[in-house]
Amino acid sequence: MKKIAVIGAGLTGATAAAKLVQQGFQVTVFDKGRSAGGRMSSKRTEQGYLDMGAQYFTARSDAFKQQVQQWLEAGQAEVWPCTTALLCNEDGVVSLKSSKDEQRRFIGVPSMQSPVKALLQDIALNTGCRIQKLSYQRQSWSLLSDEGKTYTGFDAVLLTLPPVQVQQLMAQSSLPEVFDTAANLLEPCWAVAMQAEASPAGDAIFCQHPKLRFISHQQYKSGRNCCYILHFNAAFSAEHLQQSADFWFAEATAVLRDELNIKQAIEPLVAHRWLYASQNDQITAPGCIALPDQQLWAGGDWSYGGRVENAYLAGLALAQAVIDSHNLVQESA
Ligand code: FAD
Ligand code: NAI
Repeated sequence: MKKIAVIGAGLTGATAAAKLVQQGFQVTVFDKGRSAGGRMSSKRTEQGYLDMGAQYFTARSDAFKQQVQQWLEAGQAEVWPCTTALLCNEDGVVSLKSSKDEQRRFIGVPSMQSPVKALLQDIALNTGCRIQKLSYQRQSWSLLSDEGKTYTGFDAVLLTLPPVQVQQLMAQSSLPEVFDTAANLLEPCWAVAMQAEASPAGDAIFCQHPKLRFISHQQYKSGRNCCYILHFNAAFSAEHLQQSADFWFAEATAVLRDELNIKQAIEPLVAHRWLYASQNDQITAPGCIALPDQQLWAGGDWSYGGRVENAYLAGLALAQAVIDSHNLVQESA
């Protein structure tokens, strides 16, 4: 049986791992985080989860629609019955208006990472394990973790990390450079959770705004802390990347008071910085990266243009690449 190491337990890694296990491969997944989920992660609080990363997902491809249906049936996801609105701020002129649509939007329950965890349910997963170096000798991969542990004997490796982290790991391992533009493919996002009443205008607020990208209220999300999550846009997040949580709480409070017109108490909860959050739409998505001679593949949401659905499709593509390569070797043997 072929042994595969999947580095990264976000949706891309979990999807690839689940598909490979289904096909009879022996898979071990590694993630530096405390649990699986990656950018589909929610922070646990006594009052419920805070979705600090992905807010919801949509499904357009048949493959992802089928997967979402399975999650819905198993109670690992639900439809988010959100009301959509649009917040505009052009040269200081603010308008907040309803922007209703028919799009079905889904969330994991009770937290965003539930679907990822479900995929990984029966798969060997090493969390809190940052892989810092790879080495390939006699057609076998070894992985070295930050803590100095070595994991050996893998026939193939899948890197399902953001491009800068793929690049760093490849450089550290003296492997070839595979990106021209890794540094700019994913842009940052500061995410800020604030306790406050919901604006009657809506709970999924798209923003055409000098600072913000999206504001979400969690009142209709099962299992969540009933609060606002504000996502600052890439330009504003990059400009103030090193600012403290207090800066972000002050910015978020000003938006809620002055633009959403919230009169009642507003309490800061959590500010989280994502260095590699969303696709830079000025750069063409590069697809998955293949080094078949070394049995190494890399991919993620960034392969196809960001979004949860694209992470799923990247996971399927990576698994298929391993399966095709394996079949080719079998046929020529
Ligand atoms: P990731 O989830 O980033 O997984 C990569 C994993 O690799 C991480 O778990 C990380 O810990 C691990 N890792 C990194 N380096 C190492 C290492 N050296 N060793 C071991 N492990 C390592 N998409 C939507 O569709 N809808 C939304 O509303 C939405 N909102 C978003 C809001 C924010 C703030 C952010 C950040 C993202 C949002 N997205 C949204 C994008 C969506 O979250 C991603 O497309 C998707 O989760 C990416 O999954 P992935 O598996 O490709 O990558
Ligand atoms: P979607 O179809 O709901 O939204 C796609 C885009 O269409 C939105 O970003 C928005 O610009 C526009 N839009 C959709 N409905 C609208 C409405 N009712 N009124 C006004 N504008 C509307 O979802 P899809 O395509 O699955 O995209 C995922 C979401 O994830 C997007 O909202 C995207 O911005 C967000 N995202 C956020 C990231 C971050 O770093 N904060 C990273 C990656 C994705």
